Amino acid sequence: MAPVAENWTILSVASGIVCCTVLYILILSFYRIYFHPLSKYPGPALWAASRFPSAYYLTKGVIPYKTLELHNRYGPVVRLSPNELSFILDAAWQDIYGKPAARNTQLMKDQNQFLTHENGVHGLLGEPDDSKHARMRRNLSHGFSEKALRDQEPIIKSYVDLLIQRLHENSKEPVDVVKWFNFITFDIIGDLTFGESFECLKTSQVHFWVQSIFLHLKNLVFMGLLSSYGLVPIVLFFLPQSIKAKEQRHKDFTKAVLKKRLETSTSRPDFLSLAQKQLNQPQGITFDELVPTTGPLIFAGSETTATLLSGVTYYLTTHPSIYAKLTEEIRTAFKTEDEINIVSVNNLTYMLAVLSETLRIYPPAPASFNRVTPPEGCMVAGHFVPGNAIVAVNQWSANHSTLNFTRPWDFVPERWLGDAEFKDDKGKVVQPFSVGPRNCIGRNLAFAEMRLILARLVWNFDLVLEEKSKGWVENQDVMMVYLKPPLMVKLNPVVRG
Ligand code: HEM
Repeated sequence: MAPVAENWTILSVASGIVCCTVLYILILSFYRIYFHPLSKYPGPALWAASRFPSAYYLTKGVIPYKTLELHNRYGPVVRLSPNELSFILDAAWQDIYGKPAARNTQLMKDQNQFLTHENGVHGLLGEPDDSKHARMRRNLSHGFSEKALRDQEPIIKSYVDLLIQRLHENSKEPVDVVKWFNFITFDIIGDLTFGESFECLKTSQVHFWVQSIFLHLKNLVFMGLLSSYGLVPIVLFFLPQSIKAKEQRHKDFTKAVLKKRLETSTSRPDFLSLAQKQLNQPQGITFDELVPTTGPLIFAGSETTATLLSGVTYYLTTHPSIYAKLTEEIRTAFKTEDEINIVSVNNLTYMLAVLSETLRIYPPAPASFNRVTPPEGCMVAGHFVPGNAIVAVNQWSANHSTLNFTRPWDFVPERWLGDAEFKDDKGKVVQPFSVGPRNCIGRNLAFAEMRLILARLVWNFDLVLEEKSKGWVENQDVMMVYLKPPLMVKLNPVVRG
């Protein structure tokens, strides 16, 4: 008899625990949907009740697409999880990422979104403290000025020359342009950061450092998610030795090349020239801060520009009349290829519109960059948001919303050239480089690279998309960046008389 009684006791305790848990979840969900400070904001009840739906779509790589669906259904402000709002209004940019006069402070970066620190020391991209961030940024911004860019032009040009040479050598067969655009952008940023390139163009191969940063992406997104539940130490403990070894090799390499660059005395106008002069001084940046700065900087500076170049190639090769107009502009604006430089490309009005339209329809940073409201709350685009809530503008959904654009799914450069059909477009909602004190430091360089490379590419080749790459842009998963399949293009060299 005793074991039966014991079994009953265990069973009733277990069912008691289950009932209490279910009751707790129900009460919590009820509170979140109807009484939570964000409950007045629209969104699906399940998303308001729990973080799981948004976490599920995030890990599936489709959260920007899902966010657009929700904005289409619920309007310009949507509740994505119990404590999170998404905005697609142009005024939200300044209020979330800037320092609006009414507040005069920045909103803090959500520290649980991506894990970017190295043993607790943050780099430029992840630093939560505004004054530390400003100090680091002052030490680096020198290398990103207009003046620095002019001085860097010979370095940039040497890589563009090598890219064009390599593409000519490989033009007998279709090439994967995603790969080649990654090669050149990583080589340029590697050179301007570490004083030596990754030699991707030279060897026609991906350097292991570049490869491992791509592998690292999914981990970064998952770890960010887990960190909000305090689970990172447990996951790190169980992480397979092989992954830990790869991460370690990557870190060791970064430290070694960084050390080498900082020990080299050079007058090259690169990103670290001022940082080197003031290294480890109170107004300067420390070596430990540079380690977690340089990895994300190289990634942020190369993958984004390569994405934009891949996107523009796709849209041009699938829109023959736009491509013809662009070809006409580039091939008549210059007498020789040598005339194409970072100043002369700024006069190519149609090309600039083509690039603006690509930045809208295929923004290289499609993920949201989350910020947290201050404890007292703040106004965002005319809406009061209570304290400690996560807020963001998701570029991909803002740029594809009919609330902001006429025919948002159509690739139409003319919308940036004053075409009357698009007079109601909300162009200011397109902020591919973000705004405010933490906006993109590499904006000038990115524009110079994309304009120069596109103009030289179109000058040299007639581009034809391979059948198998039709629809390339559809259904790309987003893990912070797009996980892009190969984009196969036949490059037919232009024959000039
Ligand atoms: C098409 C090209 C590019 C796009 C669309 C882009 C986009 C962005 C965006 C949206 C941010 C803000 C991220 C946030 O709020 O957390 C950002 C920051 C940043 N970008 Fe870019 N970027 C591009 C190219 C570059 C280049 C070429 C570099 C450097 C060589 C660069 C380096 C950085 C750095 C270091 C930051 C962090 C700035 C800070 O926290 O102060 N990016 N970028």
